[in-house]
Amino acid sequence: MDALKKRWSPLAFSSRPVERELLQQLFEAARWAPSSFNEQPWRFVYACRDDEAYLTFLDCLVPANRIWAKHAPVLMLTVAKTFYDYKNNENPFALYEAGMAMGNLLAQATEMGLVVHQMGGYSKKMAVEKLGIPEGFEPVAMAAIGYYGDPEKLPEGLREREQQVRTRLAVDAISSQNVFGK
Ligand SMILES: Cc1cc2nc3c(=O)[nH]c(=O)nc-3n(C[C@H](O)[C@H](O)[C@H](O)COP(=O)(O)O)c2cc1C
Repeated sequence: MDALKKRWSPLAFSSRPVERELLQQLFEAARWAPSSFNEQPWRFVYACRDDEAYLTFLDCLVPANRIWAKHAPVLMLTVAKTFYDYKNNENPFALYEAGMAMGNLLAQATEMGLVVHQMGGYSKKMAVEKLGIPEGFEPVAMAAIGYYGDPEKLPEGLREREQQVRTRLAVDAISSQNVFGK
């Protein structure tokens, strides 16, 4: 599928804002992911550049991510609800399911011409404290969302990283019939 082939995680973001309508469509795509008991444990909290909270999101990132992510017009945190409504049991699939919703969001973003770069390099503690994440919810990963920018404007080092060839394990290395790994 085109959206899967084209998706990547760039470092160069344009300052062009993301239209509100498109943001809504990202969450609409995420909404239709599957989940155990259909509990839909994914939550998304985000800030656009003009929002006061934008700088708080930026502060949560480690400096190595802040360097390039500060140009993205939207910063987001994906959050997982770790207990089912049903009997308040722990949901062992919460992160997996939040990831599936994110997968939908990524495909939708690519289809609409947006780019998304996810980041594990952030302070969970700060995110919980400053972004008001309540008990029973766990921050998963942050993401920069926007339009692709000009890689020539990236500082050296990042420019090289941007041009690196993307690689993947072979299909045989990640899938096997009958016995794991053979
Ligand atoms: C959960 C998660 C955490 C990541 N954390 C970071 C990060 O902190 N900084 C960064 O520059 N990229 C981060 N990435 C992006 C990966 O490096 C990238 O997805 C991977 O190299 C594959 O490249 P591609 O997305 O262009 O296919 C992260 C991706 C995921 C899914």
